[in-house]
Order: sequence, then C-alpha cells, then structure tokens
Amino acid sequence: MQGRIFSGIQPTHGIQLGNYLGAIRNWVKLQDSFECIYCIVDQHALNTVQDAAEMRQNTREVAAALLASGIDPARSILFVQSRVEAHSRLAWVLNCVTPMGWLNRMTQFKEKAGKHRENAPVGLFVYPVLQAADILAYRATHVPVGEDQKQHLELSRDIAASFNRRFADGFFPLPEPMIQAEAARVMSLRDGSKKMSKSDPSDMSRINLTDDADAIATKIKKAKSDSILGITYDPENRPEASNLLSIFAALADQSRAAVAAEYASTSFAQFKEHLAELCVEKLAPINAEMRGLLANPTHLDAVLADGAARADAIARPIVDEAYAAVGFT
Ligand code: TYM
Repeated sequence: MQGRIFSGIQPTHGIQLGNYLGAIRNWVKLQDSFECIYCIVDQHALNTVQDAAEMRQNTREVAAALLASGIDPARSILFVQSRVEAHSRLAWVLNCVTPMGWLNRMTQFKEKAGKHRENAPVGLFVYPVLQAADILAYRATHVPVGEDQKQHLELSRDIAASFNRRFADGFFPLPEPMIQAEAARVMSLRDGSKKMSKSDPSDMSRINLTDDADAIATKIKKAKSDSILGITYDPENRPEASNLLSIFAALADQSRAAVAAEYASTSFAQFKEHLAELCVEKLAPINAEMRGLLANPTHLDAVLADGAARADAIARPIVDEAYAAVGFT
C-alpha cells in the first residue's frame, strides 16, 4: 500500500455528477493501491441541513451512492463522521492553533456566507478546521478531492504544521491533495462559469445519481450550448462546450484531445445525443444498485456501523496521543 487516503463528502443532498467524476470515481480506483477511509461528513453538513429526517435520509442516500459506485467496505472504511468522536475532539485542539486570519481568507466561506456574514453559523467559519481534523485524526497521507477543495487542503497542511511546530515535531504528516485532471471541476449545465453543485436552485443545472434515463437525456439536451460547429476545448471562449467535452472525456475514460478530434465537425445537437447515451450507459447500473441498497436500510446501517468501529480504532489512539502532546491529562 502506498499510503493512507482520507476523503469526505457532505450529505447535503444526493450525489451529483461533479462529485462522482471529480472525486468518487477516483476514490474507487484508489482502493487498489491505498488504505482508504471514506467519510460522510454529517457534522459539516449540519451548517446547512437542519432537519433530522432530511439529514438521516441524505446520509443513507450518500452511503448507498458510494457503495453503488464501487466503494468496497471489505477493503475500505466507509462511515459517518458524527459516529467517531475523534473528529470533534481533535477539531477543538486545532481551533486553538489556527489564527482567525487564515480562516478569513477561505473563499468558500466568503461564497457561502455571502452578504449575510453576521448571520452565518460559527460552524461554517471553522468548517475548514474540522476538515483538517478529519484528515489528521487518521494521519492520512493523501486526500483525493475536486479542485474546489484545494484551498481547504492547503490550510490543512498549514494547520498540521502549526500543531507540529508548537507541540511535537513531525506529529502529523502534511497531507497531499490528489486532484483529477479531466474532471477536477465539472460545471453547471446551465452556466459554464459556475461549478455543478448540489445547492444550485435549478435541478436542470446538474445530473444527480438518482436521475433516470429520461431525466438525464432531457437535462443534456437542454444544457446551454453555442452555435459553433464542432466541439472544441476552449474554456475561455466556449465554457459550455468545454464542460460537456470534459464530462464526455471523463465518462469515456478518454483524453479531451481524443474526444475533441472525434467530434471536430459534429453538430452540438448530435454530440449531446452521444453524450446522453454515454451518461445513461455509465450511470444506469449505479442507479439500479443504489435503489436496491436503499430498499434495505438495515444492511446499509450495518455497513456504516462496522466502518465507524474500524475508523474509531485508528483515530482514537492518534487523538489520545495529540491530547497527551498538548498536556491534557
Ligand atoms: P463536497 O461534499 O462539496 O463534495 C465532495 C467531493 O466532490 C467534489 N466536487 C466536485 N468535483 C468536481 N466538480 C464539481 N462540480 C464538484 N462538486 C463537488 C469535491 O471537491 C469533493 O472532493 N469540504 C468537503 C468535504 C470534506 C472533506 C473532508 C474532503 C469534509 N472533510 C476531508 C476531504 C477531506 C466538501 O464540502 O465536499
């Protein structure tokens, strides 16, 4: 094994294509060469999901989507964050070694808090510190994420270094981000300058893993396009075409250049038809598997409980050691 992977996903809604192509597909592949720990971060999601039934439902849905995508609980650890105390125990210690100025620079906080900064929950402000605790509680070496998490991961490295400097040299390894090239940033189907997101008010802007074949075909057909013949990769001038091309390349496991060459003189409409077929072909089996898993919540809950016990066995002694390093008796 080449190291220990940790990554997380919020159960804010179901999973969309950006999560799948930007992160989860990669999580599945990494199981062959790393020890993998994957976490459904409900404590992070509590900043936005404040309804118990919805939180429970989303958590199960994300768990089902991860298993259906190929996360194998026999090889990897899959669990829910709030079930393992090490995360919040370590987060407090890390809060105390993180200057406010570092958090003030986080672009995601600025975007999410928007104009109503004074009303934003404190949990949203210290969110990146809990994220650092997630990773460091396992002494993870690598963190596979989409491009939007890059700044948070740089902060995790700074927080690890800050702890190490104050309390114990080399205590936490500095985690390395792993960002996928072809689909690091999947954009909205309605606006090529915005990332595809679970929180976009328009459902037409994203493909959900729960969408059926008809919904996928309609969304791709109606995706914003331009009137230039042929599909090229030119994110500056043709953001929508470039996004659909990147999605195609990622789903087909081809390079963007190969897909662009194949569709150099194809109409947008025809390209979209091929893309919709490809999307349905790749997502339909996941969708079917997910439905099966959701029909058996007892099995899902058992997988997550087993994952939490295994995660706890790794993280508890590390956080105990961190508590000793700061002088907690
Ligand atoms: P979250 O739940 O927003 O997204 C989960 C993963 O999906 C990636 N992603 C995307 N990739 C490409 N294109 C998109 N449009 C797109 N949208 C989402 C994200 O980059 C992420 O990898 N803060 C994290 C969760 C987290 C975490 C952690 C991650 C909490 N603790 C520790 C890594 C390690 C988040 O909100 O991801």
